[in-house]
Amino acid sequence: MELFQKPEPAKPRKAAPTLRPATAALNGGLIPNPVTGAIQPDISMSVNNVFAPGSAGFSAEGADLADLPFLYARWTNPTTRALEARLAALEGAEDALTTATGVAAIAATFLGLLKSGDHLIVSEVCYAGAFELATRILPDLGIQVTPVNLSDLEATRAALRPNTRLIHAESPCNPILRLTDLAALAALAHEAGALVSVDSTLATPVITRPLDLGVDLVIHSLTKFMNGHGDALGGAVIGRKELISALRARSGVYLGATLSANNAWLILRGLDTLYPRIRTASANAQRLAGWLEAHPKITRVIYPGLPSHPQHALAQAQMALPGGMIAFQTADPQAMSHQLADRLQIIHYAFSLGHQRSICVLIPTEDIQTSTFRMQGPALARYRDWAGNGLFRLSVGLEDPEDLIEDLARALG
Ligand SMILES: Cc1ncc(COP(=O)(O)O)c(C=O)c1O
Repeated sequence: MELFQKPEPAKPRKAAPTLRPATAALNGGLIPNPVTGAIQPDISMSVNNVFAPGSAGFSAEGADLADLPFLYARWTNPTTRALEARLAALEGAEDALTTATGVAAIAATFLGLLKSGDHLIVSEVCYAGAFELATRILPDLGIQVTPVNLSDLEATRAALRPNTRLIHAESPCNPILRLTDLAALAALAHEAGALVSVDSTLATPVITRPLDLGVDLVIHSLTKFMNGHGDALGGAVIGRKELISALRARSGVYLGATLSANNAWLILRGLDTLYPRIRTASANAQRLAGWLEAHPKITRVIYPGLPSHPQHALAQAQMALPGGMIAFQTADPQAMSHQLADRLQIIHYAFSLGHQRSICVLIPTEDIQTSTFRMQGPALARYRDWAGNGLFRLSVGLEDPEDLIEDLARALG
């Protein structure tokens, strides 16, 4: 290999058109190392790379940093580029930008696309960190922000302004598992000249591919189902090259929240088993959701795979599988949270979701209203309609579902 030649494995490559998604999860963008023949991607820890003077061209107007030789690891890195190629293949996209966390991917999107005077519509229920960033930080920068129930398209249409630049959705949304009709939302937004970003962390591309439905940008906390092993933080924004290139140039470089090569490698390895993991988690969750719904201590179960989900028809149309997340309510949720934390032996009482092991946690309505959503009037009534006084968020893992049922049966009493 000639000195200064950019190593082949890092070249972003779209999946061949015939590659089915389950194959893309393994092979998207994968090129064996031309020097060693290694199939598994290498971890490239080098902060800088030698380059031929004059070849970098980083001052060229509008140059996509990802098309330049590797120069400095905050800009691009062979291992993170291999992950970005895999993610693009999985979502059917042209390119992806990885970040140190899921929140960094959301920040990269908001701060990369929005400027003072722009208007953002954000889902009135979404991941707390995204909601707090949108409603507390962005207004200080002169960005107007309106929380809206995005499952109500008329309410969304009514909230549009001439300066609406972006609508940020989450489907299913954390923690209430309400869905958004993504194709309808994208059509409505595009009519008004706005872009749509969707946090698809709870769905993964196995379940929904938002770009196929017309959405402009897909966001993931790779920390969750995508890596799936609870051992690496990471995030990604995925979409058209023109948008990702602009986000890379603005947020990727200047927010500085670059994904480490080590974590990129762990997430790549997690993606190898994405399809079987999501299929198993989804089948386990369907079994548990049905069992929970029949349990006398459970007052309500919200799960897209149950006919009792208020948007079950949309779930069937938009989701290839109902997913690994269940929300359920009990009487006196605070007391029950202590009981579950005490008695569960297999399921862990902890935050986070999408790991190989099952996790359960209470999201008390009063706490999340005080800390995050601060809803009033009809919005608060809508939230309580889904969450009551508190919602247990159960992220179903890959254990034998009968063990999980026995664990819950013991713990619920
Ligand atoms: C839907 C969703 N988006 C984003 C995030 C943030 O991800 P991270 O913790 O990787 O920053 C989370 C975390 O729980 C989440 O559930």
